[in-house]
Formats: sequence, C-alpha cells, structure tokens
Amino acid sequence: MGQLFQVHNLTKRFGGLTAINNLTFEVEEKEIFSIIGPNGAGKSTVFNCINGLYKPEEGTMLFKKQDLVGKRPDQIASLGIARTFQNLELFANMTTLDNLMLGRHKAMKAGIFSIAGLSIRRSPAAREEMANRRKVEEIIDFLELESARDVYVANLPYGKQKLVELGRALAMEPELILLDEPAAGLTQEEKEEMIYSIRDIRDLLGITVILIEHNMQMVKYISDRILAINFGKMITCGDVEDVLNHPEVISAYLGEETEEDVNTINE
Ligand SMILES: Nc1ncnc2c1ncn2[C@@H]1O[C@H](COP(=O)(O)OP(=O)(O)O)[C@@H](O)[C@H]1O
Ligand SMILES: [Mg+2]
Repeated sequence: MGQLFQVHNLTKRFGGLTAINNLTFEVEEKEIFSIIGPNGAGKSTVFNCINGLYKPEEGTMLFKKQDLVGKRPDQIASLGIARTFQNLELFANMTTLDNLMLGRHKAMKAGIFSIAGLSIRRSPAAREEMANRRKVEEIIDFLELESARDVYVANLPYGKQKLVELGRALAMEPELILLDEPAAGLTQEEKEEMIYSIRDIRDLLGITVILIEHNMQMVKYISDRILAINFGKMITCGDVEDVLNHPEVISAYLGEETEEDVNTINE
C-alpha cells in the first residue's frame, strides 16, 4: 500500500467566499476515505476541484504523482478518476444498459462516434465495442441491476437510480472513485445495499474510494479514515473513533438543524 492521492494547500474561492481554505490531506491506495462536515462546509467543492469542474486558486492535487490542477474533466477521468453527483446526473430517457455504455464510451479512446459507421465484424472498433459490452454486463451483474437492465432510468426507484449512477462511474474502470452522498434520499434497506456495494467496490474491485456522506452510521461503519471539515478548513483527520468523538466535530454537527445527524453521530 502506498499513497494514491495527495491534496496540498488547496484553496477555492467564489468571489469573497473562501469555500476551501488551505486544505491538505492524503488518501492511501484501496482506502475508503470519508469527508464529513455540515452543509456548506465545502465537501462537494472539494470533489468539483478534484474532477476539474472548478479551478482552485491555490494548491496541488497529485494523483499518482501527476498534478490535476489545470486539467479538464475528461482528462482527469481518463487518468482514472470517476465520480457520482450529489444530485443524480443520469439520462432519464435511456435504459440502465445505455447509461452504462455511455459511461464506458466516455472513458474509451475510440469513442462512440468512430464506432457508429463500422458494421464489419471483428474490426478493431467492433471488437472494442464487444469488450465494452462485456464490461458493462459485468457491472450490471456486480451491482445486481439485472432487473433494471432494460428499464428507462426515469421508471426506476430512486435507490436503483443511485446504483445506475454508481455503475456508470464503474464502467470507466477508475482507480479512484468519488462518491458524493450516495445514501442521501435512500430508504434504510437501500442504504444497506449501498453500503455493501461500496465495500465490494473496494474489496473486490480494488478501487480506492473517497466518500462524502451525511449519514453518520454509514460513515462510522464503512470508513477507514475520516477528514472532518467546516468552513472549508480541516477540523481533524484520522481514525473513525477519534474524528467522530472530536469536540469540534460534535459541535459543528450540533450547530446544524438536522436532528438525524445529532442523534446518530455517536450511536
Ligand atoms: N459554483 C458556486 N458559486 C458560488 N458559491 C458556491 C459554488 N459552489 C459552492 N459554493 C459555495 O461554497 C460553499 C461550499 O459549498 P459545497 O461545497 O456545496 O458544500 P457541501 O457540499 O459541504 O454542503 C457554500 O457556501 C456554497 O454556497
Ligand atoms: Mg455537497
């Protein structure tokens, strides 16, 4: 095991607002690393900087020793970093299978357009397309999405839609996956299913996970280490128990209106 990803002195401002303030952390290979903090703490902004949607004012983000700062989202994706969004970003009028195929094509050099005109069997493009299809079927199997395979995403329950988004990220065969509140809006049963899926992603696929999650039960159960932030700054980073029992972490959450978090933080 070694370090896969290092964020050093990251700062991101929006006008007068410093959303990320001199943040430094490292993620080990095959770790499940969680980022927690109250609403507006800057968690999603960290992901938006990592995957190139936002350009930070300061800092470096080294993925396998390459700096991500200044790279476009598609370049960062092809380096091996995939993500899901806090609010689903799927094609509702496409099936599960087609959404996953699209995720796959985004990661592939040939891309969907160079394949479109070719019908000759066993041409390199056709062979690549078959391999893509196999990979996507594997992921459908892995996430137990068989029954959703040919269903329009709009017609799936929310929990399944979240799994399809996860599947689309996995279709890119990333080394690092960024999950932004994967359990938000899920039923208890769906949350448990999501926890097992995330575990399996790390244990069986060997993918490193950075998880943003508001549900403290999930964070406590699944994380190897936790980074707690507030106002874009690190409160503390380390082992699960140490972080969740840190007085500033507890008071940051007590300041929030949502009772669920206060009640579950030390369950
Ligand atoms: N594109 C943006 N433009 C302006 N302000 C933003 C933008 N994105 C996020 N912010 C602000 O940055 C802060 C952190 O937001 P965010 O990262 O979404 O928090 P979290 O995900 O922890 O709830 C908030 O004050 C938010 O309003
Ligand atoms: Mg967020």
